[in-house]
Amino acid sequence: MSRKILVTSALPYANGAIHLGHLVEYIQTDVWVRFQKMRGHQCWYVCADDTHGTPIMLRAEKEGITPEALIERVHGEHTRDFAGFLVGFDNYYTTHSEETRACANEIYARLQAAGLIDTRIIEQYYDPLKEMFLPDRYIKGDCPKCGAHDQYGDNCESCGAAYTANELNNPYSAVSGAKPELRQSEHYFFRLSDRRCQGFLRRWTQGEGRLQSEAANKLQEWLGEVGESKLTDWDISREAPYFGFEIPGAPGKYFYVWLDAPIGYMGAFKNLCAREGLDFDEYWGPDSTAELYHFIGKDILYFHALFWPAELQHAGYRTPSKVFAHGFLTVDGAKMSKSRGTFITAESYLAEGLDPEWLRYYYAAKLSSSMEDIDLNLDDFIARVNSDLVGKFVNIASRSAGFIVKRFAGQLCVCDESLPAINAIRARAPQIADHYEAREFSKAIREVMALTDLANQYVDSVKPWELARQPAREGELQAACSNALNLFRLLTILLKPVLPALAAKAEAFLNVAPFVWHDSDTVLAAGHAINAYQHLLTRVDKKQVDALLAANRQSLSATPPPAPPPPAEPAAAVAVADVAPAAVAAAGPAISIDDFLKVDLRIARIVEATQVEGADKLVRLLLDVGPLGSRQVFAGIKAAYEPSALVGRLTVMVANLAARKMKFGISEGMVLAASDADGETPGIFLLSPDAGAQAGMRVK
Ligand code: 2FM
Ligand code: ZN
Repeated sequence: MSRKILVTSALPYANGAIHLGHLVEYIQTDVWVRFQKMRGHQCWYVCADDTHGTPIMLRAEKEGITPEALIERVHGEHTRDFAGFLVGFDNYYTTHSEETRACANEIYARLQAAGLIDTRIIEQYYDPLKEMFLPDRYIKGDCPKCGAHDQYGDNCESCGAAYTANELNNPYSAVSGAKPELRQSEHYFFRLSDRRCQGFLRRWTQGEGRLQSEAANKLQEWLGEVGESKLTDWDISREAPYFGFEIPGAPGKYFYVWLDAPIGYMGAFKNLCAREGLDFDEYWGPDSTAELYHFIGKDILYFHALFWPAELQHAGYRTPSKVFAHGFLTVDGAKMSKSRGTFITAESYLAEGLDPEWLRYYYAAKLSSSMEDIDLNLDDFIARVNSDLVGKFVNIASRSAGFIVKRFAGQLCVCDESLPAINAIRARAPQIADHYEAREFSKAIREVMALTDLANQYVDSVKPWELARQPAREGELQAACSNALNLFRLLTILLKPVLPALAAKAEAFLNVAPFVWHDSDTVLAAGHAINAYQHLLTRVDKKQVDALLAANRQSLSATPPPAPPPPAEPAAAVAVADVAPAAVAAAGPAISIDDFLKVDLRIARIVEATQVEGADKLVRLLLDVGPLGSRQVFAGIKAAYEPSALVGRLTVMVANLAARKMKFGISEGMVLAASDADGETPGIFLLSPDAGAQAGMRVK
């Protein structure tokens, strides 16, 4: 039975380049959608640029262009990058569209009619020079804890303290430098705390298969126990100047970007409906029987599993069938890093001549239905693509097609359907389909590769290259090569969701119509004529990967740091082990061993230690972390150490802390030190391992 399915990926912001981290999600979604289409379902895949908000407004201003011009340019760049990675959206639209505006206004009006919109006066920092209210990330000042200058409005890069913008000393606007004033303004709130929302979300999040179990647990935590009302109302308005949609009936107030972003899914689909003659309500109406799936990163679960379904439900629309969250990408075991060149843009990957299907294959081989992070290990990437795709899979075709074309005018003879490899493929195809359906792509790939091994065993056993040297064995040669090409064809069908371009080339030389899934039930008929073999895939050369890293390292030094700063991550240059002033002090809240093991502590050798000009407390360290390579860390230990005395010694670092852009450069981790709590007694004591420890060893 054919299903009606609507699929979305999260909308990327219209002020940044698509990178390999983004592509995990788009490739995951695209593979799933291509699989559904191959199965004959009516499956639509829409996405759009997320175009509103303060960062986009300020970025346009900095570039001296209008926000409209900026989002149009970025739309072109994103469209190009996605096409380059064969992400086959049915519509790639923009949230800055009349369709999205109409849907946002409609939803807002219905929520208002339902009594779920409130107004409230709130107090916020205001930049009197720029005449705008400032989001926390645009306020800087002195850290209320350590006094470090130029810290952002949410946490200190020098001591790691977290706080609110109002606590900063000597605050100033990161936009204009002006001293901000606290001002009041009226904001609009979606009343998520209303018991209708709470009750609905409790039921909705428990829906069968609605959320992955890790996600359902998170939701449970956010919702609290029955009777407890943990959800607070959500501020959905922003003051002018703001790039977005003005709220109807509220001049000078705009919908917050996160209000209209998911509504962009509807807008993109509405636009597609007009083009394809589809019925919008069949997919979004309250009685819709279509399936609706959102693929997202785990960081935006809150928006998709709380705000969004509550909005839809109370505005009289259907709610998502399921939300599929995935983890983040690490490269060589660490966060993507601009200084190491592993913050790789989609554009640079293609420009350096790397094949997008290498990455699609590698991601598929790693992806599962869980929210776990996936690692792009560059050596493994090279090894796997070369061995699986080129060495095993493509090799089956390249070893047999030439003989058929040259010796038999392209004609195949009858395929031996009793071959163990053919039978195994037939037997395993339903299981492989189940793996694709369940987003267990790594399992699907593992199965296909086991079948590829069987196919190769067959080719190795019949040795077409030896038969070809014996004129009396022409018949056997034709049979061997026909069987091999049939095996190749079947394997290509199973890999087509992952490798659509390679499959298209195979369809061309095999001279067949585009493959659908159930083609894996059949073989090519005797007498079918194929075309000349065309080259399908090249090997990855390590030099290409090295050049890619170099290109991304260079682009960092070539481009000025983007303004504004990225949203804060809890990171600091030095972790200080405080001794509480009381004689008997309580330890921090208990954590599980799993929590502890998330922290990747490593022995590091200090290779360089230098003063940082303009920084009172910081020393720049270059650390050798053995197999993890070298890292630059800014540590707040200047008061206690003469930099030159540190060179050569071993210490302990947190190796998987998100890299952090500081005024002086990127800090890629943190070294561990002890100190007293009040900072009065001089003393910061850098940790050292016992003799014998080596750089890169794990500490646990
Ligand atoms: O986190 C982000 O990158 C957002 N632009 C995602 C929006 S997804 C959807 F809600 F629009
Ligand atoms: Zn501080």
